[in-house]
Amino acid sequence: MSPSANLLRTSTFRLATAYLLLFVLSVGAILGYIYWNTAVLLERQTDETIRAEVRGLNEQYRFGRITALAKVVEQRSRRNSERGIYSIFDKSGRRLSGNLQGVPSGVSGTSGWLEFPYEVFDGNSIKQHSGRAFFTRLRGGYLLVVGRDVEERRQFASLIRRSVFIAIGMALVFGLGGGVLMSRNFLRRIDMISDTSKAIMAGGLSERMPVRGTNDEIDRLSGNLNNMLDQIERLMTGMREVSDNVAHDLKTPLTRLKARVEAALRQDTKGAYKEALVETISEADQLLATFNALLNIARAEAGQAREQMEPLDVSEVAEEIAELYQPLVEDADGTFEFSGTPGLSVVASRQLLAQAISNLIDNALKYAKPEEGDERPLEIALLVQQAKNKIEVTVADNGPGIPEADRARVLQRFVRLDTSRSQPGSGLGLSLVAGVARLHGGELVFRDGKVGFEASLVLPASAQAG
Ligand SMILES: Nc1ncnc2c1ncn2[C@@H]1O[C@H](COP(=O)(O)OP(=O)(O)OP(=O)(O)O)[C@@H](O)[C@H]1O
Ligand SMILES: [Mg+2]
Repeated sequence: MSPSANLLRTSTFRLATAYLLLFVLSVGAILGYIYWNTAVLLERQTDETIRAEVRGLNEQYRFGRITALAKVVEQRSRRNSERGIYSIFDKSGRRLSGNLQGVPSGVSGTSGWLEFPYEVFDGNSIKQHSGRAFFTRLRGGYLLVVGRDVEERRQFASLIRRSVFIAIGMALVFGLGGGVLMSRNFLRRIDMISDTSKAIMAGGLSERMPVRGTNDEIDRLSGNLNNMLDQIERLMTGMREVSDNVAHDLKTPLTRLKARVEAALRQDTKGAYKEALVETISEADQLLATFNALLNIARAEAGQAREQMEPLDVSEVAEEIAELYQPLVEDADGTFEFSGTPGLSVVASRQLLAQAISNLIDNALKYAKPEEGDERPLEIALLVQQAKNKIEVTVADNGPGIPEADRARVLQRFVRLDTSRSQPGSGLGLSLVAGVARLHGGELVFRDGKVGFEASLVLPASAQAG
């Protein structure tokens, strides 16, 4: 389709055309009203006056003589102020008195209306004027003509008619011109958006819609589209990272698993088989855990869990987990302490929230465990408290903690610090906690607390919280 055809199809242009029609109609109506009032209504009034005068003069003639009537006609024709036309002619068409030079053309029958040109002397020159008059045959064949000069009114009417055409013409030119200009501007911006979206479809994911900064509706639309594209890009990058990471990090354990099974087959002894099977199971467990963690993170980041969100009492959820971990910590000769303010409510997915808290305690248990020969016993505390309009779930331990420089890095998937290689794990725990925090509109914060290292899941308190 040609660009100009496109232009005429824009909604702006249609709107402009509609307004234009409305405008033309109202201008037409106003001028039409004025025209009606001046031309038609006034003419009717004049006609009435003329009729009344003719009646009066007729009356006079009936009671008087033709010379008396001729005198009255002469008098009236001299009254210049009303621009009246008065004349009386005899049977042969000779003027007896009045201000018409001769019998106006178009006189036929006994009476009727006439419109005719006639000459007027205005003191300097003779001018052609239009007259409107009523003629009637009197007894004795005399012709009485009474009328008015309608030249001014005719000119005014034609002025109005001309104005109507000029006004409509101008409205058309400006309206259509304005419509085309506005539509062209609008279309240009829409074209820019559709060009950008084509570029994005062709693979240029980092392209963005142009934003003018005027904050008009197209700007807002572009802004929203850009936010959406940002979000899509983030998700795509996340997905790509996950699949890269999965490919890379699952390859090692799988290769290891295969090598072990092959070695056992080569050795061909019952003991070797048994050992290989046991190791395969633990390796498979580890793989499953990694898979689950990855799936959870992906779900949290894609925002899918949003559907399962409900108002929860955080302390209640935390307490359940505390009960699970208490014996584990005690097995490791440590102390576990839980304290939670009841009734703190957040809108969250129970499963993800529980998983995130477990991951934090799991880390404390793994990485705060004292080295062998260290006197200091393991201490872990789980704390749920409100700070302003936030709710903090803090896991504190008395271990070495994560060094300041690594605190951002450990949130990435599969990142483990070298010092922790002796412990099992895949480096996904904190990624999930961070993902859960983001999903719930909160964040994961690391601090150096009183006892030692603290990891806090900070969530916005729900409105229902007392
Ligand atoms: N409480 C802690 N004290 C000291 N270091 C920690 C603590 N929590 C996490 N870390 C460090 O951060 C790294 C990343 O933790 P994360 O929970 O993401 O993975 P992981 O525990 O190694 O594996 P996974 O949780 O997937 O089993 C850990 O390997 C460890 O080096
Ligand atoms: Mg962990």
